[in-house]
Amino acid sequence: MEKKEEEIKFFVTTPIYYVNDQPHIGHAYTTVAADILSRYNRMKGKKVFFLTGTDEHGQKVQSAAAQKNRSPKEHADLMVENYKALWRKLNISYNAFIRTTDEQHKKVVQEILQKLWEKKEIEKRTYSGWYCTPDERFWTGKDLVEGKCPDCGRPVEHIEEENYFFLMSKYRQRLIHYIEENPTYILPETRRNEVLGFLKSQPLGDLCISRPKKRLSWGIPLPFDEDFVTYVWFDALVNYYSATRYLAPALNGQWWPADHHLIGKDILTTHAVYWSTMLMALDMPLPRNMFAHGWWTVEGRKMSKSLGNVVNPGEVAEKYSTDALRYFLFREVSFGLDGDFSETALINRINTDLANDFGNLASRTLKMLQKYFDSEVPEPEETEKEMQALAEAIAEKVETHLRYLQFQKALEEIWKLVSYVNKYIDTNAPWALAKDPDRKGRLKTVLYSVSESLRFLSLYLHPFIPEATEKLWQALGFSYSVSEANLKEETKWGRLTPGTKVKSLKALFPRIEPKQKPEKGEPKMEEKENLISIEEFAKVELKTGKVLHAEKVKGSKKLIRLEVDTGEKRQIVAGIGDSYSPEELIGKTIIVVTNLKPAKLMGVESHGMLLAATDSDGKPSIVTTERDVRAGVRVK
Ligand code: MSP
Repeated sequence: MEKKEEEIKFFVTTPIYYVNDQPHIGHAYTTVAADILSRYNRMKGKKVFFLTGTDEHGQKVQSAAAQKNRSPKEHADLMVENYKALWRKLNISYNAFIRTTDEQHKKVVQEILQKLWEKKEIEKRTYSGWYCTPDERFWTGKDLVEGKCPDCGRPVEHIEEENYFFLMSKYRQRLIHYIEENPTYILPETRRNEVLGFLKSQPLGDLCISRPKKRLSWGIPLPFDEDFVTYVWFDALVNYYSATRYLAPALNGQWWPADHHLIGKDILTTHAVYWSTMLMALDMPLPRNMFAHGWWTVEGRKMSKSLGNVVNPGEVAEKYSTDALRYFLFREVSFGLDGDFSETALINRINTDLANDFGNLASRTLKMLQKYFDSEVPEPEETEKEMQALAEAIAEKVETHLRYLQFQKALEEIWKLVSYVNKYIDTNAPWALAKDPDRKGRLKTVLYSVSESLRFLSLYLHPFIPEATEKLWQALGFSYSVSEANLKEETKWGRLTPGTKVKSLKALFPRIEPKQKPEKGEPKMEEKENLISIEEFAKVELKTGKVLHAEKVKGSKKLIRLEVDTGEKRQIVAGIGDSYSPEELIGKTIIVVTNLKPAKLMGVESHGMLLAATDSDGKPSIVTTERDVRAGVRVK
C-alpha cells in the first residue's frame, strides 16, 4: 500500500527571530518544541525538515547597526551567532537555518512579488496614516491610544506617501470559510476562535507591503519598482516556503506545505491572516497547522528588558542542564497556555520528577543488575503482562498527544510508567528476593522487567531529554544511538536481550539543594532577592558630565535635550523640564550613565541618562558632585 504524504515527511518551522534581540526563554520555548516534534518524527522513520532562522531586514536592524557603525549585514552576521550558539547548547537538531539576507531567499521573495503583481493582486496607492517607526506598522487615527502607537505606546508620525498594497481584503470570506472547514488549522481552539471573531467582526483591510527606500533602505527591493523595499513581515513569512527551495533535504516530491508553524500568540494574526491570504493569492496550499503557544512570565511578572528579568536560557541550561530546562518547559504548562518561570519551580521539577522518579529509577536498577547479576541482563522466568501492556500502550497515546502538540499530556502518560515501575520495585523488593536462593527466578523476572521498562522510557523520553536518555540507552548496552532507534519496531516488549552487558551510570539528574529559606523575620542580607554583586554594579558606567548646552525638546513639556561633556561630547534627553529651565542647567556637573543603550524619546536620540532623585512632589532633583570635578571622571 502506498504511504500517504504525512507518513513519509514532516516539516516543522519556528518563527524566524529578529537578529536584534538577545535570545530569551520565549525563543527557546518554540525552538525546543519544534525539536521535540522533529526528534519524535525522525524516530518514527519520517524524513524531517526542521527549519529555524533569523529575520534580518527592517528598521530596527538598520538603526541598531547604524548606532554601532556597522552595515546592517555586518550587524546581522554578528548577532546571528547568538542564536546558533544557543541552539547548540540546547541540543536543537534543526536541519536548516534560514537568514532573510540569503540571496536565494531574496530571489524567491521577488519572484512571489512579481507573480502577485502580474496577477493584479498588488496595487499602488496613496496612503495617509500614522506610522510607528520602531514597530514598522501603520495605524489609522482610530487605532491610536492617546495619540500613541496602540501596541508599544511610543509616538507615531503622520505620513502621506505612495505605497504598494496586497489586496488582502477580498480573501476575508474565503479565509473564514477555510478556518471553519479545517478545525485544526489554527490551534489551540481558543486562538482559532479569536481569529474567527476578529475576521467576522470587522472588515479586513489591504496590506501595505512596501516601504519607500528614502525612508528605509534595508530590505528587499520590489522587483517592479526599485524605489521601494518589501515590508519586513511579507519578506519574513515567505521564508517558510523559500527555504523549501534551497535549504531542504532531498525528497521525492515537495516539502511544501509545512505540517506545523509553531509561533507565539502575539504573532498569530500575521500568520493566520497575512500568510494564509498570501498563499491563497498565490494558489498555493496552506500549511496543515499553525499553533500559537502562550507566553512565559518570570516570577509572576512580564519579562522585559526594563525590569531586568529576561531569562537567558543558555545560563539556565548551564546551571541546571539542558535536559532539565527542556523538560521543565514542557512539563510545567500546557502548550498554548501562559506559564510562569521561576528557579524554585524548576528546582522542584528537577528534584521530584527527574532526580527522584526517573534518575533514581535508572541508577538503582543498574546498580542492582551489577550487584545481583554481574551487570548482565537476566533471563526472565515469565512476562509481566501488566507492565508490558502499560509500556506498549504509551506509544499510541504519545502519538495522539503530539499530533495536537500536547507535550504536557504526553509526558504525563510516560510518567505513568515511571511511577508504576517505581512502585513495582518497592513492592517486589529485589533486595529481599536476592537474599533467598529459592527466589532467584523471581528476582530475574523483576530486574528484567524493570530494565526493559527503562529501555521503553529512553525511547519515549528521548525527544524531550535527549542527553540523559542517550546515556541511559548506552548504559543498557546498545551500541547505536537511541536517536537512530525506530519507535514502531522498538516499542515491543522483550527486545532487551538477556545476557546483554550493562554499564554503570552516574546520576542522570543530581538533586539540587533548594535555596535555604531564612528561619523567620527579615531575609538575611545576602538572600534579599534584589541584591546585586559588586561585579554587576561595576557594569554600570557612571561618569561626571558638564552640561554644555540645554534646550526643550519640541512638543514636550518635560523633556530637555542636553549636550554634555563626559570626556566625549554626547546628547542625552532627560525628563526634568518640570524642575529646571534649560538655562540653569548649563555649566552644571551632573552624573551620567554612559554605557546605556541609546533610546529615542519623542524622536530625539538619547545616549545615556542623568541621575536624579524624584521626591513625592514629583519634581526631580539632579545629582551633582559635592566639589568641582572634571568632566568624564568615573563615579564609583
Ligand atoms: N521576526 C518575527 C517573527 C517572524 S516569523 C515569519 C518575530 N521575532 S521575535 O524575535 O520577536 O520572536 C518572537 C517569538 O518569541 C514569538 O513567537 C513570540 O511569541 C516569542 N516570545 C517573545 N516573548 C515571549 C515570552 N515571554 N514567552 C514565550 N514566547 C515569547 O516576532
